[in-house]
Amino acid sequence: MTRDPKANPAPLPLTAAEDRQTLLRTAYGRFPSGVVAVAAMEDGRPLCMVASSFVAVSMDPALVAFCVQWTSKTWPRLTRAPRLGISVLGDGQDGAARRLASRDESKFDAIAHYATAEGAVFIEGAAAWFDCSIDNVLDAGDHGFVLLALESLSISPAVEPLVFHGSEFRRLGVRDLDRTALKSG
Ligand SMILES: Cc1cc2nc3c(=O)[nH]c(=O)nc-3n(C[C@H](O)[C@H](O)[C@H](O)COP(=O)(O)O)c2cc1C
Repeated sequence: MTRDPKANPAPLPLTAAEDRQTLLRTAYGRFPSGVVAVAAMEDGRPLCMVASSFVAVSMDPALVAFCVQWTSKTWPRLTRAPRLGISVLGDGQDGAARRLASRDESKFDAIAHYATAEGAVFIEGAAAWFDCSIDNVLDAGDHGFVLLALESLSISPAVEPLVFHGSEFRRLGVRDLDRTALKSG
């Protein structure tokens, strides 16, 4: 089979791209994701960053992961916490996501949250919460690939997750185009 030029534009070698950064950002943005808050206590105060690179990795052992930019100022501080709280942000928490991603020292003031005895911090109103410890951090170019061991979790089935796609916050749309296909397949 050959490429149909109408359906599939010719591949552009990265070396030939005029603006490699923009091209990559646009291409990576074709893949929709959720948004998580990664948060922990530091000296009695909550500390947080937001990540759209979260991914479920393994069932046994239970592992999840996200990618962190090496330039992050928050990440080295989060690594000192014994536990990290991952909150899968819910539909309607786009404002909270923006705030929690900022460097504003008072960003938690208007955001309902709670901390566990081990120091993981969770955002109220999220779709799911994962209490994690760092398993491994792999070098992945300008990011670190952070593998997290899942210690405990809770789920809020009534809350739809917030979606991040093409550099915008979205909400889930049409449901199950063909339910039977997935369930039997
Ligand atoms: C929707 C969204 C998704 C983001 N995803 C990531 C991510 O996957 N990895 C990352 O390192 N930073 C990500 N960021 C940026 C961080 O959340 C945060 O803005 C940054 O870490 C704050 O800077 P600092 O860590 O230097 O304090 C994201 C920000 C937003 C708003």
